[in-house]
Amino acid sequence: MAEAMARRIDCDIDLLRAGAFLHDIGRSVDHSIMHAVIGASIAADLGLPREVVEIIRKHVGAGLDEQDVIEMGLPKGNYIPDTIEQKIVCHADNMVSDNKFVPHTYSVDRLMHKGSVRGARRIADLHKELSKLYGEDLDSLVLALGPYPNMKGACAPFTVPPEARL
Ligand SMILES: [Fe+2]
Repeated sequence: MAEAMARRIDCDIDLLRAGAFLHDIGRSVDHSIMHAVIGASIAADLGLPREVVEIIRKHVGAGLDEQDVIEMGLPKGNYIPDTIEQKIVCHADNMVSDNKFVPHTYSVDRLMHKGSVRGARRIADLHKELSKLYGEDLDSLVLALGPYPNMKGACAPFTVPPEARL
C-alpha cells in the first residue's frame, strides 16, 4: 500500500520501504500501543538510521497528540508524523487490516468506536492531505489493487548479510 501511494507522491522510496517493512517490529515484544516505542528502541539499538526509527515511533494511527501521550502513559515526545515518509507509512497502515486492503474509513470508524474522536479526525485529515498529493482519493487504491493483492514479486530477494545477523 505504501509503495502504491509512492507511485504518485514524491518521497524517498528506500526510506519508505524500510519504514513500511519495519514499522511493527515492536510487536515482536508487545502488542499494546507501546509497540511503537519499543519498536523504535529496537531499531535504534540495531543502529538503524534515525529516520527509520522515527517512522516506527510515529506510525500509530495518524500520530498521537500530547493528550494521547499522557493518557496512554507513553514517554514524552512528539508522536505526530511530520515527514512525507512518516505520513505515508501511517496512512498505508490505516488502510491495511491484517492481510487485507481497506478504505481509510475502516480505521476512522474503529477509532470512533473506541471513543478517540481526535484520533479519528486526524486519520480523516491525513487521508485528505495525502489524497490531494496523490491526485485522487486514496481509497481508490483498494479498488485498483483489490482487497487481497498478489504480493508475489513485490519484494526483491533479500539476504541478511552475516554481519547484520542477530
Ligand atoms: Fe503498529
